[in-house]
Amino acid sequence: GTPIPVIAIDGPTASGKGTVAHRVADRLGFHYLDSGALYRLTALVALRHETSLKDEHALAKLAAGLPCSFVGEHIYLGKEDVSQAIRREEVGNTASRIAVLPAVRHALVGLQLGFRKPPGLVADGRDMGTVIFPHAQLKVFLTASVAARAERRYKQLIEKGFAANMADLLQDLTERDARDANRSIAPLKPAEGAYLLDTSDMNADEAVSQVLNWYAAVRKRHDAGG
Ligand code: CDP
Ligand code: CDP
Repeated sequence: GTPIPVIAIDGPTASGKGTVAHRVADRLGFHYLDSGALYRLTALVALRHETSLKDEHALAKLAAGLPCSFVGEHIYLGKEDVSQAIRREEVGNTASRIAVLPAVRHALVGLQLGFRKPPGLVADGRDMGTVIFPHAQLKVFLTASVAARAERRYKQLIEKGFAANMADLLQDLTERDARDANRSIAPLKPAEGAYLLDTSDMNADEAVSQVLNWYAAVRKRHDAGG
């Protein structure tokens, strides 16, 4: 039969992946995978257990045994709602450090594939189109300038009541970009056949419309047998 459709949305931090992927999923009635949350959950547990970030084996074990569940907008670790806790910069930073470890990435593959259920999936992250769902019906690579992304992150943090400092954010963003792009395993880069979308001067709704238009075009081609 027809495979369950997947829309893969990858891009650097604060490019709007989460916002756009979530809204596209809502519009299509698809499931949504926030793959970054899995790295953040692993990081949160590692920080709490004071696991050494050099102990790849121990970190992979944490990743493989994450007692996590996704309920609507909320993310749970066991019975604890950690939706807010995993958004802290420290957790994001640690996530980006452990994401370079092959064993950790490997440990999270099965969990990610499991999100592909009827009627379809919108998945966001760094390697959705390149590694996890290479046969996705639509692949999008979202970008925006460092300045635009730092500004977005700043606003988000302030709105959530966290402290934020623009200079620190700019430095953190640049470091994280470099780490994501230069790691030897699953580096951040556009997948083959990915549509590029620079949202520096676009709001989230405009980005959502563009992705939906691309998906409609892909469907049309498919239905026409092309
Ligand atoms: O929100 P932000 O883009 O900063 O990060 P995220 O998507 O929540 O992911 C947190 C970290 O996990 C990123 O900095 C990446 O290093 C890593 N990650 C990854 O390596 N592969 C993915 N598919 C998703 C996230
Ligand atoms: O998931 P990722 O780290 O790529 O970004 P996000 O968590 O979705 O954060 C992007 C922030 O920028 C959100 O507050 C959005 O409302 C805002 N934004 C956007 O997502 N897309 C635009 N084109 C403009 C702003």
